[in-house]
Amino acid sequence: MSTPDAKQHWEEHYSARDRIWSGRVNVRLSEIATTLTPGRALDLGCGEGGDAVWLAEQGWQVVAVDIAETALRRAADEAAARGVADRISFQQQDLSTGFPEGEFDLVSAHFLHSTFPLDRMPIFAAAARAVRPGGMLLIVNHSGPPPWHAELDHHNTFDAPQDIVAALNLPAELWETAEIRSVEREVTTPEGKPFTWFDNVIILRRR
Ligand SMILES: C[S@@+](CC[C@H](N)C(=O)[O-])C[C@H]1O[C@@H](n2cnc3c(N)ncnc32)[C@H](O)[C@@H]1O
Repeated sequence: MSTPDAKQHWEEHYSARDRIWSGRVNVRLSEIATTLTPGRALDLGCGEGGDAVWLAEQGWQVVAVDIAETALRRAADEAAARGVADRISFQQQDLSTGFPEGEFDLVSAHFLHSTFPLDRMPIFAAAARAVRPGGMLLIVNHSGPPPWHAELDHHNTFDAPQDIVAALNLPAELWETAEIRSVEREVTTPEGKPFTWFDNVIILRRR
């Protein structure tokens, strides 16, 4: 069951344009996933599927979840066009009220920011529970809101990575904090100006 307002909010967001995101895999995911042996992956807040489709192309079996049906439809079309539809299960779900079943070798939450109120910590905690022994939880967040959307309320979804790891409070005998770092990324604003952003990367390995 979805919270109707959150679903409506994201449906309107995606319906406003034919495409919102670039369709390319996020660079941090591509760097990290290429060091792993493909297995089962879970993509949380998959949007239009740039990450999920790329993972499937690398040989992963993917479950990709988003609240917005329009985004999922576009992602499924992209998966079909690139010949990997049989490797991805797209699921419409409000992660505030439910979570996909199963265990995964890689659980990725990439830019799970929201312009609608979203309590992310229970989602990150559920994400950790979904990682199978030997697997990885990858959380990548922006360091702050994009200046070209300064007027939008992102509901404090820009927590410091150290605070997220501390709040997860995962037992050290079961989890290794492999990496917490801020990585600079040069982007171009919608007005064509250069802008330096930071990706806050958290990599946790389940022992
Ligand atoms: C900033 S976008 C990032 C999309 C994608 N991961 C990427 O990196 O391009 C955040 C995504 O989270 C999804 N989302 C927001 N709240 C959600 C919720 N409660 N349950 C599931 N998905 C949600 C939105 O629909 C949106 O696609």
